[in-house]
Amino acid sequence: MTLRELRLRTFRNISRLDWTIGSGVHVLTGANAQGKTNLLESIYLLSTMKSFRGATHHEMIQEGKKGYFVGAHVEAETDTRIKFYWSPRERKLTLNEEPVPSLADYLGVVKTVVFSSADIELVRGSGRFRRRFIDLICCQTIPGYLLCLQNYSKAVKSRNLLLKRRPPDPRLLASFTDQVVQLGNQIMEARKNMVPKISPMARLAFRQISKERDEELLIEYQPSVRQDFAHELERHFPRDSQSGSTGIGPHRDDILFKIQNRDAARYASEGQQRSLVISLKMAQSQFLRGLFGYSPILLIDDVMGELDPHRKAAFLPLLHNAQSQSAQVFMTTTETSWPKDIARNWTFWALQTGHLSHFKPAQ
Ligand SMILES: Nc1ncnc2c1ncn2[C@@H]1O[C@H](COP(=O)(O)OP(=O)(O)O)[C@@H](O)[C@H]1O
Ligand SMILES: [Mg+2]
Repeated sequence: MTLRELRLRTFRNISRLDWTIGSGVHVLTGANAQGKTNLLESIYLLSTMKSFRGATHHEMIQEGKKGYFVGAHVEAETDTRIKFYWSPRERKLTLNEEPVPSLADYLGVVKTVVFSSADIELVRGSGRFRRRFIDLICCQTIPGYLLCLQNYSKAVKSRNLLLKRRPPDPRLLASFTDQVVQLGNQIMEARKNMVPKISPMARLAFRQISKERDEELLIEYQPSVRQDFAHELERHFPRDSQSGSTGIGPHRDDILFKIQNRDAARYASEGQQRSLVISLKMAQSQFLRGLFGYSPILLIDDVMGELDPHRKAAFLPLLHNAQSQSAQVFMTTTETSWPKDIARNWTFWALQTGHLSHFKPAQ
């Protein structure tokens, strides 16, 4: 998938951008706070309608302005033109000049995989981050999965509200419990199938980037429900009723990463953890490519600066690899000098206070 054109108006510190973009690897350089991440954020926004930094739409409007606009021309199997305007009063999303009736119809048009320094939470943070990762891949590849997740979360909320009543209405409780079980089983099934698909790809990428033979990566799905959800909920009922919340279910699932057979969150070095995150993202990208027949757009924010020289040297070939599979890559960095052989086929850009220009790297 290739982003051919990006247009921004009053988006964060970028007042106006009309950018015509070729394929391949694009390196966005510039000092801190110039708008590099903002630019990636606008591309990611087109794929999920959300900020990968967790910002609100309001925060993305340029200070003092009424709204922001992001427009794009993307090429995959077909050509698509997207226009998105957001202001507190008005939201307008069009696809090839046609209004988009529901977000669920739109999501999936632009496929991206984002790598950012905050992704280290995937290894070190709570299970929420790992569930979000696997769910994102499921959302990108399984029709109806997003809706199922949303409905599950609503059903759990309703059940929890009911559990807080003394005593809960048994008929209502049974009905919400049924919904929780039915939707929860679908989520667990999808996750259980997805983990072994991602796992071998991540393992291979991890081996390439770490280059140590004995650094083997293992990924294990750890569902909170071990056998029969309905049965276990029933057994768990006294505790749920006391706490007023549903204590088991896919909202408590986790994924375990093991390196050299030990829990990576607790035993892996910082460098290993960073390599692990990159491997997971590479796996996500490869999986999407295998399924759709074209690579997603890779958005890599400030990742290079955090790798030690050895891992950095191993990361670059992964990018070349992606490029040879005709992936389009956008990578931000504060580094301005690049070895000639590495940078040969890449396009360099400089961002300065929200303005983009061509850039020739020092060698
Ligand atoms: N809504 C906004 N309006 C105007 N400027 C903004 C807005 N949000 C962020 N900025 C500015 O954008 C800059 C940060 O951009 P960012 O893309 O994070 O920088 P970097 O180049 O380091 O990645 C800061 O100068 C910040 O003040
Ligand atoms: Mg940044």
